[in-house]
Amino acid sequence: MKFRRKAVDLTSVAILIIAAIPTGSALTTQDCFDCHTDPDIVPTPIDSASFKTSVHGDLDCVDCHSDVTDVPHETRLKPVSCVLCHDDKTDQPAGSFHQAILERNAELAPNCMTCHGFAHEIRSSEQDRSPTHPRHVIMTCGKCHSDPTFIQDRKIEIPPSFLAGYAKLTHLKVVKR
Ligand code: HEC
Ligand code: HEC
Ligand code: HEC
Ligand code: HEC
Ligand code: HEC
Repeated sequence: MKFRRKAVDLTSVAILIIAAIPTGSALTTQDCFDCHTDPDIVPTPIDSASFKTSVHGDLDCVDCHSDVTDVPHETRLKPVSCVLCHDDKTDQPAGSFHQAILERNAELAPNCMTCHGFAHEIRSSEQDRSPTHPRHVIMTCGKCHSDPTFIQDRKIEIPPSFLAGYAKLTHLKVVKR
């Protein structure tokens, strides 16, 4: 199983505490959709069908946006971190080596969504629509790695033929000049 939740103990403690407080029920995804699918209320409405069929379609909005506890809510909310639920070291080969680059603050470093698409629309890499599907990887990686200036400056060249016949990033060959 690729998904693992960190700090399981803390989570169950939190659930016990929440269960002990006799307040109204938690906000549902439908509560959020009441406003967030309506272009008259929000500037960028969410496509509910696309969200529901995404890898996160079974989650509630508040599983990620945990700081929304009441509506109407604050307009400045905390950014959501993917590694809260996904182990950045083991889940994803491409992500893990770019994680070091991200931490190094390298110019142009991709974050999770640069490769996987926007949070609400992420598909499994086995799905043809996903930018991480083998068929699209050449485009997804090529945005940076096919750029002649990028190759020139960074001295990293991923052979296009390799990406085209891409199978497993764990076996990715890097040509360092
Ligand atoms: C009463 C209407 C309403 C409801 C219900 C509502 N929202 Fe919002 N939400 C808004 C509006 C309006 C904005 C601000 C849009 C803007 O100005 O960019 C917003 C913005 C946000 C943002 C972006 C905040 C930021 O920092 O940019 C997030 C995330 C969000 N809502 C999550 C949720 C979640 C999760 C729920 C359900 C638990 C929810 N909202 C329910 C109206 C609503
Ligand atoms: C898997 C986690 C996850 C889930 C589930 C999720 N979001 Fe988000 N959402 C994010 C991330 C990541 C961002 C990018 C901004 C950030 O880092 O917070 C974002 C951004 C937003 C924004 C601001 C950007 C925009 O498009 O206007 C709104 C509003 C929002 N989410 C509402 C929702 C609502 C409503 C739901 C439930 C239908 C939902 N989110 C479900 C992770 C999630
Ligand atoms: C609140 C927890 C949570 C957060 C935050 C979260 N995810 Fe997920 N994610 C899940 C769950 C649960 C699944 C479904 C688990 C499964 O099917 O193995 C999933 C599935 C996925 C999958 C597909 C896994 C597979 O094996 O098909 C990808 C890719 C993914 N998430 C990427 C992201 C990215 C990128 C972000 C940040 C934008 C993010 N997730 C944030 C909980 C989360
Ligand atoms: C440089 C692009 C890139 C970045 C950055 C990246 N990923 Fe991925 N990720 C991929 C590709 C391509 C695959 C599928 C191929 C594979 O497994 O080698 C993948 C696979 C995954 C999977 C396994 C499920 C699936 O859809 O195959 C998860 C979960 C995941 N990534 C989560 C993340 C998270 C969380 C981050 C940020 C910490 C991240 N990724 C950053 C490109 C990226
Ligand atoms: C947003 C731009 C961007 C995208 C998209 C991108 N990368 Fe990178 N990649 C970088 C940067 C920046 C570096 C670090 C270059 C440096 O060291 O200066 C890097 C480094 C690498 C390295 C070398 C790692 C090392 O340890 O030296 C490999 C291999 C790589 N990327 C493969 C990929 C693959 C495969 C994809 C697509 C799944 C991808 N990249 C997508 C920007 C990107």
